[in-house]
Amino acid sequence: MCGIVAYIGKQAAYPIILKGLKRLEYRGYDSSGIALFGENVRTFKKKGRVAELESWNESIISEATVGIGHTRWATHGEPSDVNAHPHTSNSGRITLVHNGIIENYGSLKQELVQKGYTFKSETDTEVLVNFIEDIQINNNSTLEEAMRIALKRVVGAYVIIVLEEGFPDRLIAARKGSPLVIGVGDGEHFLASDASPIIEYTKKVIYVNDYELAIISPDEIILKNLGNEPITPYIQQLDMELAQIEKGGFDHFMLKEIFDQPGSLTDCLRGRLDMENLTLTLAGVEEHMSVFSQAKRIIIVACGTSWHAGLVAEYMIETLCRIPVEVEYASEFRYRNPVVGEGDVLIAISQSGETADTLVAIEKAKEAGAFIFGVVNAVGSSIARLSHSGAYTHAGPEIGVASTKAFTAQLTVLAMMAIKIGREKKTVTEAEYNRYLAELALIPEKVKAVLETHESIKEVAKHYADARDFLFLGRGYNFPVALEGALKLKEISYIHAEGYPAAEMKHGPIALVDENLPVLFIATKDAYYEKIVSNIQEIKARKGMVIAVISEGDTQIRDMADHVMVVPAVDELLAPLISVIPTQILSYYIGVMRGLDVDKPRNLAKSVTVE
Ligand code: AGP
Repeated sequence: MCGIVAYIGKQAAYPIILKGLKRLEYRGYDSSGIALFGENVRTFKKKGRVAELESWNESIISEATVGIGHTRWATHGEPSDVNAHPHTSNSGRITLVHNGIIENYGSLKQELVQKGYTFKSETDTEVLVNFIEDIQINNNSTLEEAMRIALKRVVGAYVIIVLEEGFPDRLIAARKGSPLVIGVGDGEHFLASDASPIIEYTKKVIYVNDYELAIISPDEIILKNLGNEPITPYIQQLDMELAQIEKGGFDHFMLKEIFDQPGSLTDCLRGRLDMENLTLTLAGVEEHMSVFSQAKRIIIVACGTSWHAGLVAEYMIETLCRIPVEVEYASEFRYRNPVVGEGDVLIAISQSGETADTLVAIEKAKEAGAFIFGVVNAVGSSIARLSHSGAYTHAGPEIGVASTKAFTAQLTVLAMMAIKIGREKKTVTEAEYNRYLAELALIPEKVKAVLETHESIKEVAKHYADARDFLFLGRGYNFPVALEGALKLKEISYIHAEGYPAAEMKHGPIALVDENLPVLFIATKDAYYEKIVSNIQEIKARKGMVIAVISEGDTQIRDMADHVMVVPAVDELLAPLISVIPTQILSYYIGVMRGLDVDKPRNLAKSVTVE
């Protein structure tokens, strides 16, 4: 997920684009660039925050009234000056910015290399700009025609905005899957990933739809589909304030990111889960399948929420792959002089990819000869670079300090790994394999169904916003979810919350139970259901207040609990992806009701780069 901005009109384009990119920095902030059209097109791009672009000092800056800009969240190719956008074609005639993922860029690149095209960067975007150029040359067509032909052959998601030498008064944009808004001005127009860079200039906007192309000059906006049929632009009036837009209309990034999850999980599955051919592709695993299938054991290291994802993965991998798994706090593993070495696989899980303890834990295991596999969200981050191989979670930038969408994306990657390795080892049958793929494909929709119950979860939160303590309990796959729910509530509301395996209560924690202690059970239907019912009875017998996350249609626990949060039925392997959502929403509302800054809680940082 990147941020793109463009301007064409009568004002100097540079300051408008620079300001717009800063507004979109929440979408991606590892590198950025601008191209301005004066006499000809000049490009300036750098690794790092948008502020880096303020060091550009060419005369074109004050003259050019046409330009495109980009702030990046790397997907293909690490953050660097050469991988930053805009990218230009081999001839130098076409320059573009891109937000999205071109899935078939590999095969397109091969075609172009055979024709003598060369590439400076590792990006899918540079392949796209040269693919468009190649079609334009071979078909002797206009840029617009070439784009329409090229985009019919592209697989994946994109918004592109294109400049062409010799056409200083025109921009061409196209969209499929990624967002694009056009701000309609008087003799000038603004383009961006969302309206936050536009709203201060105009409130008249056009939301471009999939498979649409926009040919824009200062006095005209022409919309067409890829079939070259004209489309009448639908101009709407923006009724939002700037702050809201950055949060996509949500009050906080945390809530926005909770509601992002159907989309971020779809992105995480994109290009990996193919239900048509019933295949699961995880290149980073497949390239080293023998390492996994012959692994003596798997060690998972991580911190915080990522550590909880590791605990769920222990259940998944041991059950499906029959490989022993140990889950380690990175901070303890790095100092414990652990027994690790050849034949061991170490999976390092991290949203930021920069967590110091996890980094050092990896270095220790790597020195000892273990194979390092990274499950990381931040592309090109240190952990990604230190790993022998890995899989990105593609959850997009997570701004809220409390990790939400990155957690469910981590679980999705780990589930795909367990299913893939299990099938390879034949510890997962073909029937089970197909069933798990079908279940995975339904996850984004099921998460959406839980999000639609957020108002009723808000009502539950009202009853517990003044709690002093809180217990979260679960069994099996849902035990780590109880830990994650407790961590979210701690981080966001500062309530002292603890998570436990439900059966562990009798060995001490049950002493805390009385009529003032809320006890939240993750109690979805699974092999442990009857056990968890009796655990609830133990709490109710001591007047504890019971909140339960239950599966649709469950009347037994509904009748026992004081409050319930209902989720769709799901296979227990993937239950944590669904059962965690109500705990995220509950924590959010309790934090807001306690008047706290839920996006930047006290004492915390989004990425703990110090030990
Ligand atoms: C989770 O909400 C916290 N932000 C924190 O526990 C986090 O999970 C931990 O610091 C690990 O971060 P990482 O995933 O970026 O390595």
